[in-house]
Amino acid sequence: MQQLTLALAKGRTAKDSLRILEKANIRFPTFHPASRKLIFEDESCTIKMLYVKAVDVPTYVETGAADIGIVGRDNILESTADLYEMLDLQIGRCDFVVASTSTKPLNDYRSITVASKYPKVAANYFNDKHIPVETITLNGSVELAPMIHMADMIVDIVETGTTIRENGLTILETIEPISTRVIVNKASFATKTPLIQDFITNVESVLAKEGM
Ligand code: PRP
Repeated sequence: MQQLTLALAKGRTAKDSLRILEKANIRFPTFHPASRKLIFEDESCTIKMLYVKAVDVPTYVETGAADIGIVGRDNILESTADLYEMLDLQIGRCDFVVASTSTKPLNDYRSITVASKYPKVAANYFNDKHIPVETITLNGSVELAPMIHMADMIVDIVETGTTIRENGLTILETIEPISTRVIVNKASFATKTPLIQDFITNVESVLAKEGM
Protein backbone atom coordinates (compact mmCIF):
# COMPACT_ATOMS: atom_id res chain seq x y z
CA MET A 1 0.00 0.00 0.00
CA GLN A 2 1.34 3.44 -0.96
CA GLN A 3 1.95 5.79 1.98
CA LEU A 4 2.17 9.55 2.12
CA THR A 5 4.87 11.21 4.20
CA LEU A 6 3.83 14.51 5.71
CA ALA A 7 6.30 17.01 7.22
CA LEU A 8 4.41 19.04 9.81
CA ALA A 9 5.89 22.21 11.31
CA LYS A 10 6.35 22.19 15.08
CA GLY A 11 5.64 25.39 16.94
CA ARG A 12 2.76 27.76 17.31
CA THR A 13 0.69 26.53 14.34
CA ALA A 14 1.08 22.78 15.00
CA LYS A 15 -2.02 22.51 17.19
CA ASP A 16 -4.27 24.22 14.63
CA SER A 17 -2.78 22.18 11.76
CA LEU A 18 -3.46 18.92 13.64
CA ARG A 19 -7.00 20.11 14.45
CA ILE A 20 -7.72 20.58 10.73
CA LEU A 21 -6.24 17.14 9.95
CA GLU A 22 -8.35 15.57 12.69
CA LYS A 23 -11.49 17.09 11.18
CA ALA A 24 -10.38 15.50 7.90
CA ASN A 25 -10.29 12.17 9.79
CA ILE A 26 -6.50 12.08 9.80
CA ARG A 27 -5.52 11.25 13.37
CA PHE A 28 -2.19 10.35 14.93
CA PRO A 29 -3.13 8.37 18.06
CA THR A 30 0.37 8.22 19.52
CA PHE A 31 1.05 11.94 18.99
CA HIS A 32 1.56 14.19 21.98
CA PRO A 33 3.20 17.65 21.73
CA ALA A 34 5.50 16.85 24.67
CA SER A 35 6.66 13.58 23.07
CA ARG A 36 10.26 13.41 21.84
CA LYS A 37 9.24 11.02 19.03
CA LEU A 38 9.76 12.44 15.55
CA ILE A 39 7.64 10.09 13.41
CA PHE A 40 3.96 9.31 13.92
CA GLU A 41 1.62 7.10 11.87
CA ASP A 42 -2.03 7.89 11.34
CA GLU A 43 -4.81 5.47 12.33
CA SER A 44 -5.20 4.10 8.81
CA CYS A 45 -1.41 3.71 8.37
CA THR A 46 -1.57 5.65 5.09
CA ILE A 47 0.15 8.78 6.41
CA LYS A 48 3.49 9.01 8.16
CA MET A 49 4.04 12.35 9.89
CA LEU A 50 7.50 13.84 10.42
CA TYR A 51 7.22 16.39 13.26
CA VAL A 52 9.98 18.85 12.41
CA LYS A 53 11.19 22.44 12.72
CA ALA A 54 9.19 24.80 10.51
CA VAL A 55 12.31 26.18 8.82
CA ASP A 56 13.18 22.65 7.61
CA VAL A 57 9.77 21.66 6.19
CA PRO A 58 10.41 23.04 2.65
CA THR A 59 13.70 21.09 2.56
CA TYR A 60 12.01 17.80 3.53
CA VAL A 61 9.45 18.40 0.77
CA GLU A 62 11.81 19.63 -1.94
CA THR A 63 14.16 16.67 -1.46
CA GLY A 64 11.25 14.20 -1.51
CA ALA A 65 11.89 13.03 2.08
CA ALA A 66 8.29 14.15 2.56
CA ASP A 67 5.57 14.19 -0.12
CA ILE A 68 3.57 16.91 1.60
CA GLY A 69 4.40 19.69 4.04
CA ILE A 70 2.39 21.95 6.30
CA VAL A 71 4.28 25.15 7.08
CA GLY A 72 4.05 28.94 7.14
CA ARG A 73 4.54 30.92 3.96
CA ASP A 74 7.35 32.80 5.71
CA ASN A 75 9.48 29.64 5.67
CA ILE A 76 8.45 28.81 2.09
CA LEU A 77 9.53 32.25 0.85
CA GLU A 78 12.84 32.13 2.68
CA SER A 79 13.69 28.62 1.42
CA THR A 80 13.15 29.33 -2.32
CA ALA A 81 12.51 25.56 -2.62
CA ASP A 82 11.07 24.26 -5.87
CA LEU A 83 7.69 22.77 -4.89
CA TYR A 84 3.95 23.18 -5.38
CA GLU A 85 2.05 25.38 -2.94
CA MET A 86 -1.40 23.80 -3.02
CA LEU A 87 -3.58 25.13 -0.23
CA ASP A 88 -3.91 27.99 2.25
CA LEU A 89 -5.05 26.60 5.62
CA GLN A 90 -5.95 30.16 6.75
CA ILE A 91 -4.30 29.61 10.13
CA GLY A 92 -1.10 31.10 11.55
CA ARG A 93 -2.02 34.44 10.07
CA CYS A 94 0.59 37.15 10.52
CA ASP A 95 2.42 39.78 8.47
CA PHE A 96 5.96 40.07 7.19
CA VAL A 97 7.00 43.59 8.24
CA VAL A 98 9.88 46.02 8.35
CA ALA A 99 10.15 47.51 11.86
CA SER A 100 12.55 49.74 13.73
CA THR A 101 13.08 51.73 16.91
CA SER A 102 13.30 54.77 14.60
CA THR A 103 10.31 56.10 12.64
CA LYS A 104 12.58 57.45 9.86
CA PRO A 105 11.15 56.28 6.50
CA LEU A 106 13.17 53.80 4.41
CA ASN A 107 13.79 56.35 1.65
CA ASP A 108 15.69 58.60 4.08
CA TYR A 109 18.47 55.97 4.43
CA ARG A 110 21.39 55.81 1.97
CA SER A 111 21.99 52.20 3.00
CA ILE A 112 20.31 49.96 5.55
CA THR A 113 21.46 47.21 7.87
CA VAL A 114 18.66 44.72 8.50
CA ALA A 115 18.62 41.92 11.07
CA SER A 116 16.34 39.00 10.30
CA LYS A 117 15.61 35.31 10.58
CA TYR A 118 14.65 35.74 6.92
CA PRO A 119 17.74 37.26 5.22
CA LYS A 120 16.65 36.32 1.67
CA VAL A 121 13.19 37.84 2.10
CA ALA A 122 14.79 40.96 3.61
CA ALA A 123 17.42 41.31 0.85
CA ASN A 124 14.82 40.81 -1.89
CA TYR A 125 12.54 43.44 -0.39
CA PHE A 126 15.23 46.14 -0.22
CA ASN A 127 16.78 45.14 -3.56
CA ASP A 128 13.38 45.58 -5.23
CA LYS A 129 13.30 49.09 -3.79
CA HIS A 130 16.89 49.72 -5.01
CA ILE A 131 17.99 50.51 -1.44
CA PRO A 132 21.50 49.19 -0.65
CA VAL A 133 21.14 46.64 2.14
CA GLU A 134 23.32 44.58 4.42
CA THR A 135 21.63 41.66 6.18
CA ILE A 136 22.54 40.18 9.55
CA THR A 137 21.11 36.70 10.14
CA LEU A 138 19.78 35.98 13.61
CA ASN A 139 17.83 32.94 14.79
CA GLY A 140 15.45 34.68 17.19
CA SER A 141 14.75 37.73 19.36
CA VAL A 142 15.54 39.88 16.32
CA GLU A 143 13.71 42.87 17.86
CA LEU A 144 16.82 43.34 19.99
CA ALA A 145 19.02 44.29 17.01
CA PRO A 146 17.78 47.89 16.47
CA MET A 147 17.49 48.42 20.25
CA ILE A 148 21.22 47.84 20.72
CA HIS A 149 22.16 49.58 17.41
CA MET A 150 23.31 46.33 15.86
CA ALA A 151 21.03 47.01 12.87
CA ASP A 152 18.87 49.90 11.62
CA MET A 153 15.79 47.73 11.39
CA ILE A 154 14.40 44.21 11.23
CA VAL A 155 12.36 42.13 8.82
CA ASP A 156 10.22 39.77 10.82
CA ILE A 157 6.75 38.33 11.26
CA VAL A 158 4.24 40.09 13.48
CA GLU A 159 1.21 38.26 14.80
CA THR A 160 -0.32 40.08 17.79
CA GLY A 161 2.20 42.96 17.71
CA THR A 162 3.09 42.36 21.36
CA THR A 163 6.81 41.75 20.84
CA ILE A 164 7.47 44.88 18.79
CA ARG A 165 5.26 46.98 21.09
CA GLU A 166 6.91 45.79 24.29
CA ASN A 167 10.32 46.58 22.83
CA GLY A 168 9.44 50.03 21.47
CA LEU A 169 9.60 49.19 17.74
CA THR A 170 7.31 50.68 15.07
CA ILE A 171 6.14 48.97 11.89
CA LEU A 172 7.54 50.99 8.99
CA GLU A 173 6.21 48.86 6.13
CA THR A 174 4.15 45.69 5.70
CA ILE A 175 5.75 43.36 3.16
CA GLU A 176 2.99 40.75 2.79
CA PRO A 177 0.49 38.65 4.75
CA ILE A 178 1.55 35.15 5.82
CA SER A 179 -0.44 32.03 6.69
CA THR A 180 0.05 28.27 6.91
CA ARG A 181 0.18 26.44 3.57
CA VAL A 182 0.11 22.89 2.25
CA ILE A 183 3.10 22.26 -0.02
CA VAL A 184 3.74 19.23 -2.24
CA ASN A 185 6.85 17.65 -3.74
CA LYS A 186 6.72 17.92 -7.53
CA ALA A 187 7.71 14.30 -8.28
CA SER A 188 5.34 12.93 -5.61
CA PHE A 189 2.51 14.85 -7.22
CA ALA A 190 3.12 12.84 -10.39
CA THR A 191 3.73 9.44 -8.78
CA LYS A 192 1.18 9.58 -5.92
CA THR A 193 -1.50 11.69 -7.62
CA PRO A 194 -4.64 9.96 -6.24
CA LEU A 195 -3.32 9.91 -2.64
CA ILE A 196 -2.27 13.55 -2.76
CA GLN A 197 -5.46 14.67 -4.47
CA ASP A 198 -7.54 12.81 -1.85
CA PHE A 199 -5.58 14.53 0.92
CA ILE A 200 -6.06 17.98 -0.63
CA THR A 201 -9.78 17.45 -1.37
CA ASN A 202 -10.33 16.12 2.13
CA VAL A 203 -8.64 19.12 3.78
CA GLU A 204 -10.33 21.53 1.36
CA SER A 205 -13.75 20.23 2.37
CA VAL A 206 -12.91 20.80 6.06
CA LEU A 207 -11.92 24.40 5.26
CA ALA A 208 -15.11 24.90 3.25
CA LYS A 209 -17.24 23.54 6.12
CA GLU A 210 -15.50 25.92 8.52
CA GLY A 211 -16.13 28.79 6.08
CA MET A 212 -12.39 29.38 5.63
C1 PRP B 1 8.06 35.39 16.44
C2 PRP B 1 8.55 36.59 15.64
C3 PRP B 1 8.35 37.73 16.59
C4 PRP B 1 7.13 37.30 17.38
C5 PRP B 1 5.91 37.99 16.83
O1 PRP B 1 9.09 34.98 17.29
O2 PRP B 1 9.89 36.42 15.21
O3 PRP B 1 9.47 37.89 17.44
O4 PRP B 1 6.97 35.89 17.19
O5 PRP B 1 4.75 37.62 17.54
P1 PRP B 1 3.80 38.72 18.21
O6 PRP B 1 3.52 39.76 17.20
O7 PRP B 1 2.57 37.93 18.56
O8 PRP B 1 4.51 39.25 19.42
P2 PRP B 1 9.01 33.63 18.09
O9 PRP B 1 7.93 33.69 19.13
O10 PRP B 1 8.85 32.52 17.11
O11 PRP B 1 10.37 33.58 18.86
P3 PRP B 1 11.85 33.94 18.40
O12 PRP B 1 12.00 35.43 18.56
O13 PRP B 1 12.70 33.20 19.35
O14 PRP B 1 12.03 33.50 16.98
